[in-house]
Amino acid sequence: MGKNEELLTRRGAVTPVGIPRVTAATAARASGAIITDAEGNELIDFAGGIGVMNAGHCRESVVAAIQEQAARLLHTCIHVATYEPYVALCEKLVSLLPHGGPTKAFLLNSGAEAVENAVKIARQATGRSSVICFTGAFHGRTMLSMSLTSKVGYKMGCGPFAPEIYRLPFPDHYHCGEGLDEEAFVDRELARLRDAFTTIVAAESVAAIILEPVQGEGGFVPAPADYLRGLREICDQYGIVLIFDEVQTGFCRTGRWAAYEHVGVIPDLSTWAKSMGGGLPIAAVIGKADVMDAARPGTIGGTYGGNPVACASALATIRVMEEEDLNARSRQIGRMVKDRFTRLQQRCTLIGDVRGLGAMVGMEFVEDGDPSRPAGAVVRQIIDAAVARGLIVIPAGTYGNIIRVLCPLVITDDQLERGLDILEEEVLRYAGEPAAAGQGRG
Ligand SMILES: Cc1ncc(COP(=O)(O)O)c(C=O)c1O
Repeated sequence: MGKNEELLTRRGAVTPVGIPRVTAATAARASGAIITDAEGNELIDFAGGIGVMNAGHCRESVVAAIQEQAARLLHTCIHVATYEPYVALCEKLVSLLPHGGPTKAFLLNSGAEAVENAVKIARQATGRSSVICFTGAFHGRTMLSMSLTSKVGYKMGCGPFAPEIYRLPFPDHYHCGEGLDEEAFVDRELARLRDAFTTIVAAESVAAIILEPVQGEGGFVPAPADYLRGLREICDQYGIVLIFDEVQTGFCRTGRWAAYEHVGVIPDLSTWAKSMGGGLPIAAVIGKADVMDAARPGTIGGTYGGNPVACASALATIRVMEEEDLNARSRQIGRMVKDRFTRLQQRCTLIGDVRGLGAMVGMEFVEDGDPSRPAGAVVRQIIDAAVARGLIVIPAGTYGNIIRVLCPLVITDDQLERGLDILEEEVLRYAGEPAAAGQGRG
């Protein structure tokens, strides 16, 4: 038995099947956009630890900052003694992502925890209890965030779920456009939301509307810009807190610090995690100061939130993103990937849609060009074959029929092209005609 198989067997023996195992890859070490497995094979990483490694694996300055901080101060809990890295990171976050006036931030351990805390703040700020969320949403796996998550496969058997949660269709033009142009579609979806205040839940009961500006697990689906603008107006009209969940979209993934910056719509609260930490568990809620300060002392926070080592890692990671202008690189990678995927779509009828923002790009596989007939099985085959050939890539979407790219943004052009070559060849093997090596390169 090889070392990879041995490790997977040991994992299977002692860890529950409920922890997802999306690929058969193993990892012993990593650098930049390359993971080296337990047998010493190099794999190109198109998953980035599910959108965590935008600044690259084991960046020297990030590792050094972690090591220095670990030697100086490991933990006090911010409730007990105030330490500089926590304050410095919050200062950095509010300067990068001002929420339209005085802005505050605080730190947590995971995306789910950030979402939970944003909802608690919105409830205290409004004195209301209801939350509106959307189909296809993924907000985490703790009980409140799981209640906000849409896909049944992520939550089956785990209820009862948190009450006062109301779900509307996500403004997904590709699946729900039914021949409408985008303007007419957005008008219809905003009317649906207004109507929901009569037919589903009173606006006066709604504390928050929470939405991913580009759905991540839901299949890399961007919300139309005018829908987000309309949402802002509706929230202002009814005194509802608008929460954007930027856990997967944030920190350069879409070519900006925040996906909402593409549209110029500022939320009242926003949630962050993943790539902000450069690989260490850290998350944040950022928000308008008056909304943030509505949370009573002791109702938010936690023992480990904003641990000094995780703060040092986040600060160093953000520095890398700024110094290397990873937002610009993200837009460049996005153009390269979209171009390859679009050309592949022309050769492969199973690819129904290619979409995304910046380097958050996905391609959706459907039967006979019909968005309502997901082709998830073929995506599973493509992914398994790609991983076996040295490309780690993962699916997305309620039906697992989207291939998504979340590569570290420090990937070289050559690594990116090699990864895309493998992906293209496997797509054509399972979903089209075979390709000559490198045929798709522009
Ligand atoms: C948009 C979004 N929100 C929240 C979460 C939950 O984050 P975590 O897994 O860190 O709890 C995720 C994770 O994929 C996510 O994509």
